[in-house]
Parts: sequence; C-alpha cells; structure tokens
Amino acid sequence: MTRFDPAGPLRGTLRPPPDKSISHRAALIAAMGETETHIRGYLDSADTRSTLRAMTAIGADVQASPSAAPGAFDVRVHGNGMRGPARKSAEASIDVGNAGTLLRLLPGWLAGQREGHWRLDGDESIRRRPVDRVTDPLRLMGAEVSSRRGTPPLEVSGSKLRGIDYRLPVASAQVKSCVLLAGLMAEGETVVTEPEPTRDHTERLLAACGAQIRSEDAGTPVAIRGRLPARRVTVSAAERLEVDEIPVPGDFSSAAFVLVAAILVGKAEVRIEEVGINPSRVGLLGILHRMGAPVEVEEGRPLGGEPCGAIVARSGPLEATRVSAGEIPLTIDELPLVGLLGCFTDGETVVSGAEELRHKESDRIATVVEGLRGIGAKIEAEPDGFRVKGTGRLAGGTLDAHGDHRLAMLGAVAGLASDDGVEVEGFEAAGISYPSSG
Ligand code: S3P
Repeated sequence: MTRFDPAGPLRGTLRPPPDKSISHRAALIAAMGETETHIRGYLDSADTRSTLRAMTAIGADVQASPSAAPGAFDVRVHGNGMRGPARKSAEASIDVGNAGTLLRLLPGWLAGQREGHWRLDGDESIRRRPVDRVTDPLRLMGAEVSSRRGTPPLEVSGSKLRGIDYRLPVASAQVKSCVLLAGLMAEGETVVTEPEPTRDHTERLLAACGAQIRSEDAGTPVAIRGRLPARRVTVSAAERLEVDEIPVPGDFSSAAFVLVAAILVGKAEVRIEEVGINPSRVGLLGILHRMGAPVEVEEGRPLGGEPCGAIVARSGPLEATRVSAGEIPLTIDELPLVGLLGCFTDGETVVSGAEELRHKESDRIATVVEGLRGIGAKIEAEPDGFRVKGTGRLAGGTLDAHGDHRLAMLGAVAGLASDDGVEVEGFEAAGISYPSSG
C-alpha cells in the first residue's frame, strides 16, 4: 500500500517523462532502418523496456545509456533493414510484458517478412487484451496470423502481403499503426480510414524517415468547428527507412496527472515544460477549458515533427461537462482523470461513447467507477462510460490499482486532492509508464 496525503499548495516547474507512444514507435521504426538511429530521451519504463528487448530479440543492435532528461535513456538502435527480422531471428518468442502498443504494432512488420515465425505473449493483463482487431486486417492483406480466441499469444509467420483499403471498425491508433507498418511491406498502396481522429505519431515518424505516406481529411459526416477531423492515411511499400535522430517530447498523458493535481489542490501553480501538445493527444485540454479550469498553453518549437510546448495550470472552480464519441480517442488515457475532475464540480459529468475503456490494461469503466466510489465519489457505470455527480470534494480511503498504471496514478492524484488521503493498493503498477514510481 502506498499512501497519498492531502497536499499543500503545488508550485513549481516540471519536465514530464518522455512520451510512451512515441518511444515505442521510435524503437520499432529505428529497428527497420539499416543505419544507426539515435533516440534522444527514450522513456525509461517497464513498457518501453519491453520494446527494446523485443527489438533485440528480432536481431537489432540496441545500446541504452543514461540521459540528461528525467526518466529517460538515450538509445542507439542499429537495425537490419525492413527484412531484417527474417534474416536475423527466423524464430523467436517475444515477451511484450504489459505493452499493448508493442503487441499491436509489431505483428504488422513481422507479417510482411519473407519467412520466419514469431510468437508474441505477455503478462496476465495482456492475455486478456483483444488482438483480433489487428489479425483481421492483417489476414485481409494475406498475412498468416493466429491467436487464442482473439487474445494472445499471437503467432505470426512471414508471408507476402498485398495493400488493402481498410476502414477501422474501432477508432484505434494501435490498429491504424499496425496496418500502416504492414503496408510498408505490402504490394501496392494501403489505405486506412479512421472513424474518429486518433493519435498520428506513426504517420509523423514514418514521414520523417522517408516513407511515402500521406494523410487527408476523411470527410467526417458532421464537421464540428474546432474539432480535429478523422483521417484517411495512404502508405506505399518502402525499401528503406532512414533517420539519424529521433527526439522524444514529454508525455502529455503523464503530465496530465500533474496538471489535474494542480487544478484540484488549492493555491497551486504548476508549469509543465517540453511536453508534447499534438492535437491528436490533448483532448483533455478542451475538456478542461469547458470545465473552466485555468490552463494556458504556450506553443514552442516542434520536436522531431511533433508539436511541443509548455502548459501552465492553476487551481480553480470547475463546472460539470459532457464528453462524447468524437473526443474519446483524443482523451482515451486521460478519461479516468475526467471522472476524478467530475467529483469536484457541483453538477453531473458524463462520459459516453467510450466502450474502448473496457479493453485497456484493466476494464477501466469498472475499475475507475469502483476505485472512485470507494473513496467517496458518487459515480455510476454505463455500458460505454460513466456519470459522476459532483459534490465538490472527495473523502478518501483505499483504491485498488488492479495492476493498471493509469489507475495507480489516478489514486495518487485523488489522494492529494482528498480530505483524508488515499491508500493505493498496488501502486508499483505506475512504473509501467512513469519512471521510478513503482
Ligand atoms: C496508444 C493508443 C491508444 C492508447 C494506448 C497507446 C498508442 O490505444 O490507449 O495507451 O500508442 O497508439 P488504442 O489505439 O488501442 O485506442
């Protein structure tokens, strides 16, 4: 049990740990190259270490050294080219640990090898996570993939792939990225259309490495002013990918916990620097704005093709809000925090269209509702989200992280903002995404 007591005023400047999504992609895409790529500020967490181990297992040379940035390594990856895995690791068992992004992205690349066979498996939580969402489109491309009733272990054999025109049944950046990576290995063009806008780190990184990739507005039926449009992304086969350096910006999803703590704990002013502010990641900022939270964004210079800047948050009163489908993928990992914020309003906050939360590291509708209710929240689960009746406060108590890193961090922030403190059972899960916290 780790205890988080009510905090005094939070003040200061913070640089969040490097972005987890971009770190996974950087290691994978660097391993596809044939020359050395320097990843500057790679996240030092359990999940991203799994990806480095996986790249080594498929034959890349990976050297990690200490970095000046907090919570980071500097990593040098010398890949063996697009066809490297078949030449260097014709057969391997890959332990993805708890890393859903690695589990979903890597099969896209492996499926297009000329030969070879790989088995991807992981921890107890990963064994419950759906992989049919990636095996379905990969099969349409001609891949040889199988799983155990739609969940890991996932087996993949190298085979000849053809491009497809695929509309994602769920708005998932992981699935989009898997199909795009397979598209690099396939004959002809591969087109992926998303139903709602999802994070576009893969597209940005592939473009920086010289891939032929273009993205256009998918013609969202109802164009809402100021809303990010869904995209249709087209990629062509690539013979080579190359980039000397990939800098990784700070992780907005990790910064979000500090941001929310600043808003909820009285008399706070926190400045978060060098953080990624890619519009496909920062849905929470729009929600905070509607809730009336005093948050300002200062746009800085982009880092490796990713928008970056500083965010300043102060404490202040909050209004209830509604979050629905179009905003969900842009806020997906921050939705537990929306539940917590809702407790500190005097109205009803509703999150809907978020059934995807049921397929995360835990069933995050069930665990957020159980967790917050156990510490005094008036919160009800819905099939596709939750509703919270704000009382302007939270008593405190015990919250079980259920092995889910975002739940562990939620409990910590809730403790700081509560009347009596929160004991987080299984806080070590936070180490999946947050360095030195487990
Ligand atoms: C991620 C995408 C999201 C997110 C996950 C990381 C990524 O998942 O929840 O933590 O790196 O692409 P989905 O794309 O499956 O929604």
